[in-house]
Amino acid sequence: MPLSRVAVQKVGKRFGQHRALVGVDVELAAGEVCALLGPNGAGKSTLVGILSTLVRPSSGDVTYVEGDAARRADDRLRREIGLLAHASLCYGELTAVENLVFFAGLYGVAEPQARAHALLDQVGLDGKARERTVRTYSRGMVQRLALARALVADPSLLLLDEPFTGLDRGGALALGQRLGQARADGAIVVVVTHDLEAIAEVTDHVVILRRGQLVHVEKKRGFTYAELRDVYHRHAD
Ligand SMILES: Nc1ncnc2c1ncn2[C@@H]1O[C@H](COP(=O)(O)OP(=O)(O)OP(=O)(O)O)[C@@H](O)[C@H]1O
Ligand SMILES: [Mg+2]
Repeated sequence: MPLSRVAVQKVGKRFGQHRALVGVDVELAAGEVCALLGPNGAGKSTLVGILSTLVRPSSGDVTYVEGDAARRADDRLRREIGLLAHASLCYGELTAVENLVFFAGLYGVAEPQARAHALLDQVGLDGKARERTVRTYSRGMVQRLALARALVADPSLLLLDEPFTGLDRGGALALGQRLGQARADGAIVVVVTHDLEAIAEVTDHVVILRRGQLVHVEKKRGFTYAELRDVYHRHAD
């Protein structure tokens, strides 16, 4: 069953003496795109790592809710989480199709071949490139594949850390549309980006971190670029 809500409560993360996150509270809801913003080193990727269950918080809790029931962080929960991180998490010696068929199999997705091609259509990885090994891909092509990989099991919690990096204009537009679709499908979406223009229109929820602390939260269904830039400059700079 899909997740309906995720509650981040008083989450802190230390790396030795360094406090990457301090007492962060965030509520994420189904059908909303959360833009997680802030300067370099603010703790955004750390928070995404914690939301993905790959990084353990030093303090506080993350509660994953399905319907009205809290879920434990086990394999069944992880199947609901799609992650695009800095590393593509794909195999260089395999083609795009082979990578997606592999991950589809891992998650028990029906008809892996058809699913692989449908996803590659969505992210706009063209027919010939699909059958080449991934290590021959350009930066943007790897990014497109990494996005397809994050979507393979139809996650209800989609975590995208700088997904626009390396994408050309067409790729960025397609990603914006895909985010709009995930939101319409009722997914919980978190996007970390420095590209305010690319994310503004589909943003429902702005969360700004600065030096590990939550400095601003604002909810509104869709922002203009000017509005989002203004919110960012008032709170993050
Ligand atoms: N594994 C780690 N070991 C030690 N320090 C870390 C580790 N991961 C992150 N940090 C530190 O935690 C802080 C937050 O890092 P994080 O990667 O979450 O920032 P960010 O907001 O994603 O920044 P950017 O916009 O540059 O990607 C930084 O000071 C970073 O050096
Ligand atoms: Mg980061």
